Amino acid sequence: MRVLSGIQSSGVLHLGNYFGAMKQHIEDQERHECFFFIANYHSLTTVHDAARLRQLTVDVALDYLAMGLDPAKATLFRQSDVPEVTELAWILSTVTGKGLLERATSYKDKIAKGIEPSMGLFCYPILMAADILIYRPQLVPVGKDQLQHVEMTQDMAGYFNTTFGRGEPILKRPEARLNQAYTVPGIDGQKMSKSYGNAIDLFDTPKATRKRIMSIVTDSTPVEAPKDPTKCNVFAILALMAEEQETKQWEQRYRSGGMGYGEAKQRLYELFEATFGPARERRAQLEKDPSYVEDVLRAGASKARAVALPLMRRVRQACGLVSQRDLPVNQASRVST
Ligand code: TRP
Repeated sequence: MRVLSGIQSSGVLHLGNYFGAMKQHIEDQERHECFFFIANYHSLTTVHDAARLRQLTVDVALDYLAMGLDPAKATLFRQSDVPEVTELAWILSTVTGKGLLERATSYKDKIAKGIEPSMGLFCYPILMAADILIYRPQLVPVGKDQLQHVEMTQDMAGYFNTTFGRGEPILKRPEARLNQAYTVPGIDGQKMSKSYGNAIDLFDTPKATRKRIMSIVTDSTPVEAPKDPTKCNVFAILALMAEEQETKQWEQRYRSGGMGYGEAKQRLYELFEATFGPARERRAQLEKDPSYVEDVLRAGASKARAVALPLMRRVRQACGLVSQRDLPVNQASRVST
């Protein structure tokens, strides 16, 4: 089964990003044929600084490779290394009603946040549809905020096939797979988010990480008193990181009292280091080897193109964008009669 997802970087990754998407992507490589691309054309809707865009792009690659994405198993590439997606986006835009895009909630949210309503931002779902349809995946893992975009993609595949396909499903209808939603609290207890300033970053120094973890907000129940693990931010994160057995033990210790929050925080820090410490080292190594990272991305792009180019040939033929001479013999004669 082919799985495809785009990753749009907005800077430094935190624990919430990891559990919300990255961990699931990396697990997919063991089970499916995976295509993951760094959505740098999409980033252009908000980033207009070449050096920053380049850096954000490399950062995604470094983060994923450091966390265990294996280029021998999964195909990782830059969206812009397959520029044909922009061609497909244009073609899709000619069969997609403006009304459909006007209903996009993520567009409305971005405008409400004060992002410039450029045509690129407005047409973002069309490019995303092209991203998906050009690789004919069965499954598209996304977060809840992107679900509507995948539904629009299904609609656009239908419009295209009806208009140009003569009954043939040239574009394949993909299914969305909703990423498992984990509730990862930030250090202040609100949902972890970069914009709230409450995040625990994945690749901070050990010292800074420890400081963040130690500053997770807890209530003032004294050490001796029993505590409710379901109301504790430290426990919520611990439960995501620890083995089930250990989580159960902590649960008991909370409930029976005699345990201070500091102890749980210390253990959380150890678990964090056990998981992300080696990844931090790997990331530092990879950062010193930009040509390796570039090679991975280029090799990924060539695998992605091997799927995208034949599909684009069919798309161009279907809409009459090639001359009669370029058509296969049987089709050329059908057109001329
Ligand atoms: N819009 C997605 C996000 O912000 C990123 C993305 C771009 C994507 N193209 C995609 C995701 C195609 C899935 C499939 O997260």
